[in-house]
Amino acid sequence: MHNILHFQEIDSTNTYLKREYADLADQSVVLADHQTQGRGRLGRVWSDNSDSLTVSLLLKSGIRPTTSSLLPLLAGASLILTLERLGIDASIKWPNDILLQGKKACGILAEAVYDPDLQAIILGIGLNLNDKAFPAEIQKKAISLYQATGRRFDPMEVLHLFLDDFDTLYDSFLQGRYDFLSIVRAHFFLAGKRVYLNYYGEDLHAEVCGLADDGRLEVRSEGKTLLIDAGEVTLEENYGIC
Ligand code: BTN
Repeated sequence: MHNILHFQEIDSTNTYLKREYADLADQSVVLADHQTQGRGRLGRVWSDNSDSLTVSLLLKSGIRPTTSSLLPLLAGASLILTLERLGIDASIKWPNDILLQGKKACGILAEAVYDPDLQAIILGIGLNLNDKAFPAEIQKKAISLYQATGRRFDPMEVLHLFLDDFDTLYDSFLQGRYDFLSIVRAHFFLAGKRVYLNYYGEDLHAEVCGLADDGRLEVRSEGKTLLIDAGEVTLEENYGIC
């Protein structure tokens, strides 16, 4: 069972858990109708959006620095299962965007708290549910479940489905079974695609081979196989507009 805290307005559900993790139970969930300082990956702003599911999950027990980088992929795989149960076929763009029709429906911000050892992992999820439209600057890249299906979705219902799916995959993970990797691989948006990325400060063009067992992205560039830990991957065909 998850302890669910529901706020009408908050700075950011991830920031809240970073502040309060010590006093909250493992697997607490924070849900907000509005965020005033929502954050995205790579220091970006995540715009407030009352039509989305805005939620963060706190993990305190069973986490290890060596495997914690897999948890955003596990969250992504859980969302794939949830969307499947809602009749929606989605894909994952490494490291952890959920795409529908090639556009982003969901972003995941995973953050670790060290003091000085690893104390908590926070998984923040912003899923576009009922948006009818997006601002001009992102409308080519963003999509909501409503736009993809013509149906409206109840955030609480979607949250409970997601927590169910997450619990199943996370329990397996804690027992050393990485079932989520096969889900990610079966919905892997970048497979075989030509991409542009930054590898240790160097800009590279590469072809994506797949997902390694440790969650890294395997690519081929100039005859070499490289494993990418983090960062941003842009499709070559989109280079310049993303
Ligand atoms: C990204 O794609 O850049 C990740 C976006 C993550 C947004 C969610 S919304 C809930 C949680 N709280 C935040 O401030 N960010 C995450």
